Amino acid sequence: MAVLEQLTSQQAINLEHEYGAHNYHPLPVVLSKGEGVYVWDVEGKKYYDFLSAYSAVNQGHCHPKIVGAMVAQAQQLTLTSRAFYNDMLGKYEKFACDYFGFDKLLPMNTGAEAVETALKLCRKWAYEVKGINENEAEIIVCENNFHGRTTTIISFSNDPIARKNFGPYTKGFIKIAYDNLEALETALKNNANVAGFLVEPIQGEAGVYVPSEGYLTKAKALCEKYNVLFIADEVQTGIARTGKLLAVDHENVKPDVLILGKALSGGAYPVSAVLANNNIMDVIKPGNHGSTFGGNPVAAAVAIAALNVVKDENLAERAEQLGQLFRDKLNEFIKTSNIASLVRGKGLLNAILINDDEDSDTAWNICLALRDNGLLAKPTHGNIIRFAPPLVMTEEQLLDCVSIIIKTLKQFEN
Ligand SMILES: Cc1ncc(COP(=O)(O)O)c(C=O)c1O
Repeated sequence: MAVLEQLTSQQAINLEHEYGAHNYHPLPVVLSKGEGVYVWDVEGKKYYDFLSAYSAVNQGHCHPKIVGAMVAQAQQLTLTSRAFYNDMLGKYEKFACDYFGFDKLLPMNTGAEAVETALKLCRKWAYEVKGINENEAEIIVCENNFHGRTTTIISFSNDPIARKNFGPYTKGFIKIAYDNLEALETALKNNANVAGFLVEPIQGEAGVYVPSEGYLTKAKALCEKYNVLFIADEVQTGIARTGKLLAVDHENVKPDVLILGKALSGGAYPVSAVLANNNIMDVIKPGNHGSTFGGNPVAAAVAIAALNVVKDENLAERAEQLGQLFRDKLNEFIKTSNIASLVRGKGLLNAILINDDEDSDTAWNICLALRDNGLLAKPTHGNIIRFAPPLVMTEEQLLDCVSIIIKTLKQFEN
């Protein structure tokens, strides 16, 4: 088979199966084109994308302004490494710092790398500013977290699939229940070595768990009381997804350390970042941390364009308004049906709970049927399906999607 030959879906799946490591279990659909809220498979069938590459494609597939910026920069200069300066990185850093309201940015590529960066930053701050004895810093994390899959990050995950047989694990983490302020205060009160609290403002991978109102504000206040860094992982929730620029903005909370990824590039390119003010970020010195590709000129150009699209197209407001409509419509349906018991979320980050056991394959089968009906979504865990379309969706398209979802759910009623 010639490498550039047009493949059928089955051929593409077979190739991945034979030559790729089996570290994912994709829904069987093979995509070859995307535009806005739509994707097309290799046979030419068109679908609504209701996952947005796990909220990376908030600005819609192949946004012309983002792709335009990427192509123009790629024709000029792609990579210098940080051995030399380039003329895009500083511009991007200033732009993003003004945009999110921080003094400094540390550029990386993937979400997991940015989380690792934040953990290192927090530990160094603990030793050099807070005055914790070397190697004794602890960072509080939450049960059912998802922050990526590097060795350190899985050390504090409680997903057995992500952890088993990948030990020994990194020490220095205290796990507490999510959305539980008492547990947070107990962990802070009983340990002078706590350096930070790492939290997802909404737990996305766990199944779109929205914490109680006031949780983030009170957690931040506790962190201030005990001189501990509040580290917000907004890799999935950030950049307009939940109806505000950041999910912490719903409670007007300013994190000490902000972690971004995914939609920072609109899905065009791997771009992630950690932002903090000088009193924290200035502990990082040459050689402490880095990445050959982090902060490359293409990433810088793409991120500026992607963030401009978010403001120019009012994506946060759109997510807020369409998300409300989506939940209203599905709640109305759920009242009359026994297939789903709950819809929850904020903005356009939502999930429905399917009325079946956690280890049943109903949610997976519903996603297969949604695919057949022209809409792509995927279960997060067991019986939970996440719904996260690109934020450039129109109201008419959203209502069309709602009717596809309801029609499909009805096929599974008994
Ligand atoms: C909250 C959160 N943090 C970190 C990550 C890891 O990002 P990446 O897959 O780019 O490493 C994810 C990915 O889903 C995420 O949802």
